[in-house]
Amino acid sequence: MSEKPHSATWRVRGARPRNPRERHTIKSVNTDIAIRLAEADDAHGIAVMSRDHIESGLSWKYDAPRIARAIRHRDMVVLAATEPEGRRDALRGFAAMEFGEERAHLTLLAVQPAHRRRGIGRCLVDWLLESAVTAGIASIHLELRSGNQAARRFYRALGFSETVLVPGYYAGRESALRMIRMLRSPGPLPLAWRPPALGQK
Ligand SMILES: CC(C)(COP(=O)(O)OP(=O)(O)OC[C@H]1O[C@@H](n2cnc3c(N)ncnc32)[C@H](O)[C@@H]1OP(=O)(O)O)[C@@H](O)C(=O)NCCC(=O)NCCS
Repeated sequence: MSEKPHSATWRVRGARPRNPRERHTIKSVNTDIAIRLAEADDAHGIAVMSRDHIESGLSWKYDAPRIARAIRHRDMVVLAATEPEGRRDALRGFAAMEFGEERAHLTLLAVQPAHRRRGIGRCLVDWLLESAVTAGIASIHLELRSGNQAARRFYRALGFSETVLVPGYYAGRESALRMIRMLRSPGPLPLAWRPPALGQK
């Protein structure tokens, strides 16, 4: 894939797709959550959320420089869910997905504990799913810590299915559960192209 899928439309809780350059807003009780592409300034907050809510008890892989690289990477989409708090926008959640030719990998997703069950996680994943459909992706893949029952239920509620348990995936001591969501039947592999070799028929 050559471009980030900026042109995807998205829809949350029955809202109609709109201009993709607009921020997407979820109306919840007295508050507005905006979903937008993450920017360099978001890297620190996202990294801290990853450390505390995804990688807790493991070594911290997704630190701020790595998140900043992901935000810049042309095949990654990193989203931030924010909400006005005083004079600034507070980070409530984020998601990161890597787009391949036919497969996308949902690498990271978290919502601040005090803001769970408000539909923020679903909204982030819906945004990515619609981007993936637009980009022609056939399947979305992810791994989660096998003991993470909340995330397991969340992904099941969003149409993901469990595929395989991978023992020792995390630091050699904790299993991962792989999950998949098919978006379409995988297409045939493209024919391998080779440059013409001079002097050969
Ligand atoms: C998983 C996570 C991202 C869900 O975010 P969220 O914003 O709370 O999820 P939503 O409010 O959009 O939930 C959508 C649906 O998922 C299901 N769900 C979400 N959390 C659930 C839980 N703790 N138990 C059971 N079902 C749950 C429900 O069906 C829910 O719909 P409902 O609230 O109308 O019943 C959040 O719990 C989280 O950040 N967990 C820690 C990090 C993590 O585990 N990340 C995923 C692995 S990398």
